[in-house]
Amino acid sequence: MNARSVRVDLGERSYTVHIGPGALLSVPDEIRRSLGERPTRAFVVHDAGVPQVYCDELCAALRGAGLDPTVRDITPTEHAKSMDTLTGVLRDLGASGHSRADPVVALGGGITGDLAGFAAACYQRGVPVVQCPSTLLSMVDASVGGKTGVNLLVPAPGGERLLKNMVGAFHQPLAVAADTRLLDSLDDRQRRSGMAECVKHAMIAYGVTGADLLSETRAVLPAVLAGERDATDRLIERSVALKGEVVRRDERESLGGAGGAGGMRMLLNLGHTFGHAIETIPHLTPDPAFPEMAPLLHGEAVALGMVAACRCAEAAGKCDASLGDELVGLLDTIGLPTRVAGLPEDDEIIARMGSDKKAAGGVGRLVLPVGRGRCEVTVSPDGSWIRAGLKAIRG
Ligand SMILES: NC(=O)c1ccc[n+]([C@@H]2O[C@H](COP(=O)([O-])OP(=O)(O)OC[C@H]3O[C@@H](n4cnc5c(N)ncnc54)[C@H](O)[C@@H]3O)[C@@H](O)[C@H]2O)c1
Repeated sequence: MNARSVRVDLGERSYTVHIGPGALLSVPDEIRRSLGERPTRAFVVHDAGVPQVYCDELCAALRGAGLDPTVRDITPTEHAKSMDTLTGVLRDLGASGHSRADPVVALGGGITGDLAGFAAACYQRGVPVVQCPSTLLSMVDASVGGKTGVNLLVPAPGGERLLKNMVGAFHQPLAVAADTRLLDSLDDRQRRSGMAECVKHAMIAYGVTGADLLSETRAVLPAVLAGERDATDRLIERSVALKGEVVRRDERESLGGAGGAGGMRMLLNLGHTFGHAIETIPHLTPDPAFPEMAPLLHGEAVALGMVAACRCAEAAGKCDASLGDELVGLLDTIGLPTRVAGLPEDDEIIARMGSDKKAAGGVGRLVLPVGRGRCEVTVSPDGSWIRAGLKAIRG
């Protein structure tokens, strides 16, 4: 059974993140503890990439607690993280007779969690959701904090453009069950992608809790890359604790703050304004020798985005080169890209960054590193700094 847990302290919306092998089995207890005897069914959104055996195990545990499961399989892609798929899930919820007392259970990666969480936020104006993340990325980041949503396809010159996470809601889970047995079937590329979000947490941790997560992450890397479960569980626990603390202090990513710099949760967007602008460019690949690896995974785009942000901060005189060098060294060790070939012209990327909602109109705000483990939100960054950041990641 799972050995680790982190409490996310949000008053009446507080919840526990269970981490470790067997964590899935905590789901029925968490549902009964929070919702009592009223629920009679559960709607499981199952990422088709998660081995069926875990979905069966979860359903058996739900049945054992008197909860009749309905399973909806989805094949997660950024294009399927859409209003159309959402409508399909909502229709199935309605058809299954799901009531307001019954929980949705998301079993899958970040796409599944975001989509199922948003369906739960919308259906009957909000039903409970339990997140069961199945990728490293969703365990350390996406399943915690209550952000849910889908991408939006909008008309654009020459066709359509996909805007990431443009429609969504804050909807905190009842509980999170990060069952690390599920990572055994995850491929290496996905595992590395998840580590990008751990590095992101390390890049802001000192400013949040005073912890030197950069050194800790470097120390556990070999064991995590070798797939050692205890080291991996520990890294997940540290990352979740950091994210939980940020969310506790600024649950809804407030836009206020000094000079419009926003609240603390915005720091979690480090690398994401650059990252979202390049993540949806279909031909970009993490390795130019393998064009078939295109497009970039979320964590790969975030890794490149963090390098760009670091070099941008360097051009702005906010940090010195050693920080960018340390970041590149860490990402190289993990096997994440720090440069990418075939990027469009700067102006096109800057325009894409401006339409990322995190940019708040123009490249209005950018999270920039200002020291080891410390970042700040910079309002109206100079175009020349952004160009310096982009130059640094051109392969
Ligand atoms: N809500 C948030 O706060 C938040 C934070 C970070 C990222 N995200 C979102 O998360 C998404 C990325 O999530 P992701 O990296 O988990 O990707 P993903 O959901 O696309 O999953 C990656 C792939 O791994 C497969 N998979 C999942 N679990 C598996 C398992 N146990 N074994 C084998 N294969 C498995 C999936 O089928 C999929 O093909 C993005 O859409 C991003 O926007 C959300």
